[in-house]
Amino acid sequence: MSYCDIYNMNKILSIETSCDETGIAIIDVLNMHIVSESLNSQIDVHKEYGGVFPMMAKREHGINLLPVYTEAITGLESFTYITDDSRIETLIEKAKKHLIRENDLCDIIVTALKNKSFPVADIDAICVTYGPGLEPALWVGISFAKFLSFVYDKPILPINHMKGHIYSTCYEVSKKVESPSLAVLLSGGHTEYVLMTSDTDFKKIGVTRDDAVGEAYDKVARILDLSYPGGPAISKIANDFRTHGANKSYNITLPRPMIHSNDYDMSFSGLKTAVLYLVRDLKKENMIIENDLLAEICFEFEEAVTETICKKIDKIMSEIGLDFKNVIAAGGVVANEYICAGIKKVCEKHGVNFMKPIKSLATDNAGMIGLAGAYMINNTDYKGFLIYADTKEFEDLKAIGNLSF
Ligand code: KG4
Ligand code: ZN
Repeated sequence: MSYCDIYNMNKILSIETSCDETGIAIIDVLNMHIVSESLNSQIDVHKEYGGVFPMMAKREHGINLLPVYTEAITGLESFTYITDDSRIETLIEKAKKHLIRENDLCDIIVTALKNKSFPVADIDAICVTYGPGLEPALWVGISFAKFLSFVYDKPILPINHMKGHIYSTCYEVSKKVESPSLAVLLSGGHTEYVLMTSDTDFKKIGVTRDDAVGEAYDKVARILDLSYPGGPAISKIANDFRTHGANKSYNITLPRPMIHSNDYDMSFSGLKTAVLYLVRDLKKENMIIENDLLAEICFEFEEAVTETICKKIDKIMSEIGLDFKNVIAAGGVVANEYICAGIKKVCEKHGVNFMKPIKSLATDNAGMIGLAGAYMINNTDYKGFLIYADTKEFEDLKAIGNLSF
């Protein structure tokens, strides 16, 4: 019998607001299934600045969170609206107390309660990302989780965003991830190799010393006048170039920083700077960065990134004397099929199973946060991690921007 049956934990609601995606999902715990979800991307808001500004992200989460929540809840087969006047009055008081730092969200919630348009469903716990991420953005989700804890009279299960990426690979897979495994986390904020020796023991064994790989994609895209986020834009151009034979007529070569270093760390800022200088020099020669020349730069950049990541994974598999069961690739960058194919090849060489999330769960979303919570509920005696309203832990629950494992 699994722990979710023992404790009657059937459906959980999850919240993700760590960066520029506002997400809510409802998870069927036992089946690791996403029953309903809603996601609002702020990409268009941040696009013109080429990156995410924390205070702007916070404001957008505040405005969008209740509509996103409403869409997720009303997407369920069964839900109701809160209509009892005295309950509404109590909840308005709770909103004013616990959403004190979230004015926009508080106003929107109070209006919905007064209009009797605040929906609720059958939920057993609330999972929320508490880090790592942008603190002002994380706070919106945490404050909302605290408010929902009163609405549902249910506990909060705080979730590490990176564990969300890892367990997004367990979507509709109820069994345990065997240990030891290696998590390869590649996102806009993180690039790291994490040794997982049990469901609760995580150890970083290699990190980027500067830019994350997704960040490098985004910055290089800006240098090349491509759209934000840079990953999809660059990889599309690189892929087309590859499909058409990858004939390099400009002889573009870029460095693979730290590829031969005697550790598992990486560096992508030097690669980005190399693109910057290359583009500056080409422009000095009156070259226009478009068509084949642009494609060759994107291709060479992606080759450099892929080679570096794969070489380090190969080094880990060869040097660390462990019988690895899985390599779990996760984070927004694993939407990149070329990088994943490279990692898969290394796994095949070492006879290790390769796992990655389905495409819709690769970039930030609330489903992955709920799946991490559901995984924890199914596989560990998780009771000690639950946080109940009006306890010291509840008051102390806060955003941790640089949360590690
Ligand atoms: O995990 P994620 O959604 O957000 C963070 O937690 O950072 O990752 C977003 C990052 C962005 O930097 C984006 O450019 C990158 O993932 N990305 C990609 C691709 N799709 C998204 N990078 C390379 N190739 C892609 N196809
Ligand atoms: Zn992420």
